[in-house]
Amino acid sequence: MLYLIFGFRWLFLLLVAANIEAQKNVILIPDIKTKCLGNIMLVEVGPLRGSFLDVAVIMNNTAVLLTPSIATQCGFSMKHDQFGNALIYISLQNCFSQNVEDKTFTTALQLHLHGNQFVKGELHQVVETCQYNAWASREVICDYNYMEVAQSFQTLGEQRSCNLPVDLGFRATTVVFFTPEGEKPMSVADAQRRGYGIRNTPTRLVLRSPMMAPETYMQQVAGVPMRVFKTSTIFEKKWLATQVDAAAACPIQEGSVFLTQKTITWYLPRQMDPMISSGQFKLLEVHFGINGQRLNPLELQARGYSVALNDFYVITELPIGGVGGYYKSHIQDDKYYVSYMIEPMLELLWTEDATNEQTRYKVLFHIATHLVPQPLELIDKTVPGEMTFKMVLGHFAVDVALINITFPAEVLSMADCSVRGFNILEHMSPNSSMKVFTLEVPFSDPAVLKQAGDGVTIFSLHLTFGLMLMDELEFFSYNAHLEAVVQNIVPPSVSGGCDKENFYVLVKYGSRGYNFQTLVGKRLMTPSLAQHYDYMENGTHFSFVVPFSSPDVAVEAIQSSFIKGRLDVILNNPETNSEIQEFSVACNFLSTLTECFPNGTMTALALKLESVPSLNPSKLTLEDPSCGPVFSNDRYAFFVFTVNSCGTKRKFMSNAMLYENEISLPDEDLAKKDPNSKEPEYDLKVSCVYDIDTNQAVAFNTRPRRSEPYAENSKGQLQVVMRLAMDESYSKFQSTEDYPIAKYLQQPLYFEVELLKSTNPLVSLELENCWATKGERTSQPRWNLIINGCPNPVDPYQVVFHPVWADARVRYPSHFKRFEVKMFAFAEGEEDLNAKVIFVHCDVVICDAKNPLGGVCGKQCSKTKEMIRGEFEIEVQLGGGRGMLYYCALSSLDCINLNLLLFCWQVKNVTFLRSWILNMYQLDQYA
Ligand SMILES: *[C@@H]1O[C@H](CO)[C@@H](O)[C@H](O)[C@H]1NC(C)=O
Ligand SMILES: *[C@@H]1O[C@H](CO)[C@@H](O)[C@H](O)[C@H]1NC(C)=O
Ligand SMILES: *[C@@H]1O[C@H](CO)[C@@H](O)[C@H](O)[C@H]1NC(C)=O
Ligand SMILES: *[C@@H]1O[C@H](CO)[C@@H](O)[C@H](O)[C@H]1NC(C)=O
Ligand SMILES: *[C@@H]1O[C@H](CO)[C@@H](O)[C@H](O)[C@H]1NC(C)=O
Ligand SMILES: *[C@@H]1O[C@H](CO)[C@@H](O)[C@H](O)[C@H]1NC(C)=O
Repeated sequence: MLYLIFGFRWLFLLLVAANIEAQKNVILIPDIKTKCLGNIMLVEVGPLRGSFLDVAVIMNNTAVLLTPSIATQCGFSMKHDQFGNALIYISLQNCFSQNVEDKTFTTALQLHLHGNQFVKGELHQVVETCQYNAWASREVICDYNYMEVAQSFQTLGEQRSCNLPVDLGFRATTVVFFTPEGEKPMSVADAQRRGYGIRNTPTRLVLRSPMMAPETYMQQVAGVPMRVFKTSTIFEKKWLATQVDAAAACPIQEGSVFLTQKTITWYLPRQMDPMISSGQFKLLEVHFGINGQRLNPLELQARGYSVALNDFYVITELPIGGVGGYYKSHIQDDKYYVSYMIEPMLELLWTEDATNEQTRYKVLFHIATHLVPQPLELIDKTVPGEMTFKMVLGHFAVDVALINITFPAEVLSMADCSVRGFNILEHMSPNSSMKVFTLEVPFSDPAVLKQAGDGVTIFSLHLTFGLMLMDELEFFSYNAHLEAVVQNIVPPSVSGGCDKENFYVLVKYGSRGYNFQTLVGKRLMTPSLAQHYDYMENGTHFSFVVPFSSPDVAVEAIQSSFIKGRLDVILNNPETNSEIQEFSVACNFLSTLTECFPNGTMTALALKLESVPSLNPSKLTLEDPSCGPVFSNDRYAFFVFTVNSCGTKRKFMSNAMLYENEISLPDEDLAKKDPNSKEPEYDLKVSCVYDIDTNQAVAFNTRPRRSEPYAENSKGQLQVVMRLAMDESYSKFQSTEDYPIAKYLQQPLYFEVELLKSTNPLVSLELENCWATKGERTSQPRWNLIINGCPNPVDPYQVVFHPVWADARVRYPSHFKRFEVKMFAFAEGEEDLNAKVIFVHCDVVICDAKNPLGGVCGKQCSKTKEMIRGEFEIEVQLGGGRGMLYYCALSSLDCINLNLLLFCWQVKNVTFLRSWILNMYQLDQYA
């Protein structure tokens, strides 16, 4: 009641706690524990992790905020331990305690925690009742901020021992302070105003003085300086007066503590003269503790403490840096220093022989060592292969917090770092009360610089740690630079080549060694396959040999004298099943697919092409569909036949005889086929030339269609055929076997060109250009017969067009063109036509009759611009052969479905008397 009206805030900023596992937004609710420790009570709150704590005492439902001066006057002190807990020490006889018969003491606190990012802010009420019966006649408490003495009335002189001044109506009026300068009387009210605590309880007088109060003084006790507080309190009742003497002596660090580098030695006088009236006394008990709590001898030993007694002192030795204490940080001249702090406690109990009066003496001491430079060290724990910078920065006292990290381009707070994926942790050192920060920054982070070196990549990181001393809010920083060199990852590589029979493949391991799977063709390289392919390995490379005939080789194309085979090798990552490396080698292997024997036997091997995956080789036949292969499997079909069987055609050449047959799928299969079906197409022409003079046989093949990759879904058919009629009735035609046909100069040639397979009557076939050569279509001399759909005007033997009428053979006359050429036309400028072969070529245009777009489609023999939109390729074969059209528009969006036939087509390069390639141009289409 005496000390209620003090309005100061007593703010404690407690240190950041240790053992923070991760600063990742884990809001802690601090623990509150209370303990009764003899004549004091301890309230432990924490860990606080840098949050502020206001302490108030509740009395009669009013909270009184504890200021430092109220604390000193009323018996409170606050400290912290190495774990960042706030420790509030409360004298049981504090100004606010509810005292029941000097046995039960109740104090109620209100704790206001101001939360931060680590700790939840809250208001807590703490009420604790402690029992304490073991009161000695005198109880002295020395805390760092006050001295308290509780003097029992009963121990006053014999004659007054039964007098309880308060009960009898005595009131304390005056306090006399004894100082070296003399006695100093002061009214109780004055003394209280000056910060002294004066209170009487049913059995005792309680006096409290701030440690450095003016009416206290220093006294050497056994050579140790001590602060002494010595009083006599006058109690008055009317004309009666009595007095109670009370004294306390408390140690201060200076003069009682001696430091070496490793040890703290504290001397406490054994006989504290100011408190002992007679010379004789007996020391009954000595207890040692830390943070107000007694330790037993085993605990003392375990912590490396020693407490010894000699004639004059209680000598305590404590290791610097040991458990129980903690380090506090300081910054001086940008350098980091620490000092070690520890709060030892000594409790003595003695009795004076003369009076038999017992004194219980308790020192809650505070020892701080000198500042010691603590060089900060960054330990680089980076393992380059892990692609992350890992570092440890330390050692710090627990009162240091990491605030931000500055990179060359930016500053990141701890929260930013967490979002960025940097792993930041705090760890306590196991052997000291220091802590370290660990930080991990992935090499992939933009803050990490990358520099290419010779086969290596150098990663570097510059950073500045922003650190703060939490109790002084003092900022300091630490610069660091880390570098890591990482060998570049070289993937395995494949190389290879071929000779006449085999593919040779060499695989070089990458920087990760042999950690891949190998696919040959579509098969996994198993040990048995490896053995089959002469697999060899030497630690850095392996090689194998794949024969051209192996099923793992894809046949790309078949030419007259060779086969183009391709081997694919794929290296796979078996864990992710992803492709590391793909390698293909394609080679031409000389091969005789067709053999001609002098006895007239021909053999032919039809290989399945990669581009015709759905082909079933066993279904292939010769011209005569009854002639199937003598042997077939899923990769090839083998035919044996004689030149006079299986539909083999014969041609006479000047000195030779040509026999030709064709391997394909039987016609009936094709006839049934929808032009857009995805049935496989295959045509392999096999030929033998027998030299008439020598009877030697030479075999050759023309390339099968589909030798080039093409888009299966863009396939269509267009067949154009050019024939030579026997006469102008166009009813009989020369057969294929008859070529070359002998004609005399005067004789006319009757040509017919037909568009096959189309049933669209609106489509017409037009001849754009026709010409004759003695060889290839572009060779010279060249005789122009038809130019832009019209007879060559400068030709003296002009071409004559013959109209086409529907008849039994001709269903759609527009699909036909007929013209007549005089052989004279080819005589011009040629002396010798004997034994000469003439080739006639035509460019063909297919027009939509509903949409004559001009040019030859307009049927007016005049020049018009061609409107070329896309290029198509057509292959037309001689005589009744089929012409296949492979088309895919280059410029239009989609491949065109020929069924629509809305387009005007131009077929070019129709070569006569040979097998030809034609180019088709689409002229235009409807909008
Ligand atoms: C406050 O409490 C004390 C006892 O703790 C009591 O004596 C006093 O009357 C109370 N004062 C008020 C204003 O309630
Ligand atoms: C890092 O944090 C400290 C303390 O909040 C602040 O003073 C300092 O400016 C910050 N550093 C940067 C570069 O923002
Ligand atoms: C703690 O132990 C580490 C090694 O375990 C040592 O480097 C360090 O100096 C020790 N610290 C103290 C204060 O003994
Ligand atoms: C392994 O074979 C490759 C290719 O033949 C060769 O270049 C390499 O030097 C060989 N390595 C060793 C260790 O013999
Ligand atoms: C033709 O000759 C070949 C090779 O000498 C032989 O294999 C084949 O049986 C012969 N055919 C006939 C019908 O004699
Ligand atoms: C067909 O003619 C076109 C143009 O007239 C030409 O570019 C192309 O090379 C010719 N094709 C062949 C196989 O002669």
